This record gives sequence, C-alpha cells and structure tokens, in this order.
Amino acid sequence: MSIRIGILTGGGDCPGLNAVIRAVGKSATTHGWETLGFRNGFEGLLDNDYRVLNYKDMDGLLLRGGTILGTTNKGRFAVKTGHGETHRIPEPVLAQTKANLQALGLRALVVVGGDGTLTIAQQLFEAGVPLVGVPKTIDNDLEATAFTFGFDSAVACATDALDRLHTTAESHNRVMVLEVMGRYAGWIAMHAGIAGGGDVILIPEIPFTYDSICAKIAEREARGKHFTLVVVAEGARPKGGDFITSGPQEANREARLGGIGAIVAAEIQKRTGKETRVCVLGHLQRGGGPTTFDRMICTQFGAMAVRLIAAEQYGYMAALRPPEVVAVRISDAIGRLRVIDPNGELVQTARDLGVSLGD
Ligand code: F6P
Repeated sequence: MSIRIGILTGGGDCPGLNAVIRAVGKSATTHGWETLGFRNGFEGLLDNDYRVLNYKDMDGLLLRGGTILGTTNKGRFAVKTGHGETHRIPEPVLAQTKANLQALGLRALVVVGGDGTLTIAQQLFEAGVPLVGVPKTIDNDLEATAFTFGFDSAVACATDALDRLHTTAESHNRVMVLEVMGRYAGWIAMHAGIAGGGDVILIPEIPFTYDSICAKIAEREARGKHFTLVVVAEGARPKGGDFITSGPQEANREARLGGIGAIVAAEIQKRTGKETRVCVLGHLQRGGGPTTFDRMICTQFGAMAVRLIAAEQYGYMAALRPPEVVAVRISDAIGRLRVIDPNGELVQTARDLGVSLGD
C-alpha cells in the first residue's frame, strides 16, 4: 500500500482553504502518496468520515472559496470556548481518534486552521499523533507567522466596501460606520481602514470613547469635510465596556460577537446630530475566492506541509517570515494571540495621517 496522509480544515472557513488542499494533494501526488480528506474538521477523524482526494479532484480548487471538505468551529474537540478559555480534548474522543488513524494507516495529518484548530492539533501531537499545521484565519491573529492566509482576501473585501461607502457618505454628508470581523485583534479594521481611507478606526486593542470619535467628526466638519468613515472591529469596545455579542452563548464554541457597529452609529447620531448609517460586512469577508497573495501563500504553505511530513518534522507548521516561508513549532503559534501593538508602526502610521483611534 502507498503512503497515506490526511488533511482537514478546521474553524471558520476563509478564502484559500481549497488552494491549500490543492497544494497538499498535488505535492503528495508528486511523492507518490495518497491523500485522504477528512470532512467537517476533526469531526471527520472521529467519525471516520473521509474521501480519497484524487488528482482530478484538484481541478479548479485554486480559485474556489470555502472548503470542499467542510469545516466547523464547534463540536466534540472544541477546546476554545467562551472568551478564549482553553480545555483539554475529552479522553474518549482522543482514544477513538488515535484508533481510527491507526486503522487507516495514516503516515501523518495536515491540520489547516487558526488558533482554536491548532490548539487541538498541538494536543493531538502531544498525545502521539504525527501531524503538521498550516496557519489560517482572516483575523491574522496567530503568533509566529507574519500573515495567515485568508487575511489578505478579507482585507481586500473590506477595503472595497470602504471605497463604496466613501462615495455614498460623501454624496449625503453622512457618517458611515463599517463593522468588520476581528474578535481579539483589529488587523482587518486597521489594514482596510488605512487602505480604504477611514477617518476613525476602532480596534479591540485600543478601547475608545465617544467624545474622541465625535471630536474627530467635528474637526472634519470644521475643515469642510462633511462626511466621515468609521471602521469598527467586532471586538472593539468603549473604555470600561465589554464585547457586544449577537446572541446567547452556545455550548462548545466561542461567544458570537456582533452589533458594536450599530451601537457606535446610534451614539454618533445622537451626539453629533449627523445622519449616520451602519453596514455590517459579516461573512462577505469570509466568502469567495482568494486574492493573488493568498493563492501564493496557500500554495507555499501546502507544499511546505508535505515537505515537513517527508522530513518527519511533526509538530511544526508552515509560517511566513517575509520573504521566506519557514517551519515553526505549532506550540510557538498558539497560547497567546498576535494583536496590534498600540504603540507600533501601524498605529503610528494611522495617527500620522490624522486617523482617530478613538482614544
Ligand atoms: O475567527 C474568525 C472569525 O472571522 C471571527 O472574527 C468572528 O468572530 C468569527 O470568525 C465568526 O464566526 P462564525 O460566524 O462562523 O461563528
């Protein structure tokens, strides 16, 4: 029997997952290996739910959004719940998973995911499962890599939204508030905000005050700018305030955030008297195909994952350290999230341009 490897995609989906699957499948074929794709993240391992990924199955995957394997950000493995607490994988789940992998004769597993998924992967690795990782998340909040794939595509979508909001805000002399994703880190808000010419950028790393936001709007008015673009990350909050959630907490999953944009918009209108509208970008920024940059790093990450398996370098993941793609320990990427440094260059650039961070 030829060497078999497995691949699964975990957590929230994002553009580029299929491009990684393609790169892994093609590289494995180059080695003469067979690739099994597990469905719905780690759940597929537990249920022995997989499909053989043939060479023909790679057709069209470079551009295709979502993941042909399915994914989930809840389930029986979930170790990240609430606001970032970490649990252990239940013992019976671990035992069954190991038994299934052994019965399939898998050489190793490629785990594609963000902090939650890679935290599960690290626990499996420590329990003896040979695996390698690929860093995914639109939030870009993983340590040990300069960028995760999916982020650039999400920023492109948010920047396009800001360009569109810009023209309508200007025509109507309105304040437009764009709510983007970003649970603990404001990378999407910051990059899209700067690239899309936002006037106020609110991120989880810098608690804001309404006085500060309204002062910026007044300053623009005084300078003859009668419209303002506000970008707010879903995890942003006022000084002394908490996250805004959009529904009750479900078992075995992170709290669902959302709604801060509407609250900020209502407060701005109340305080300034200016007509204010809100747009929630939501899952548009997670859907669709990857940008050219994401296609490149997805392909490099997938090929690197297979090279790591060939070298039996388990417990490692591909990472971007520009201009190189390198291997780093999964344990170096998890445990703490990579957030924006409030005193760093990115924030300084925004401030230099006169952008308000709401503080
Ligand atoms: O983790 C990525 C992310 O995009 C977060 O920014 C957001 O809170 C979450 O996914 C939403 O996921 P879902 O709608 O699938 O629960």
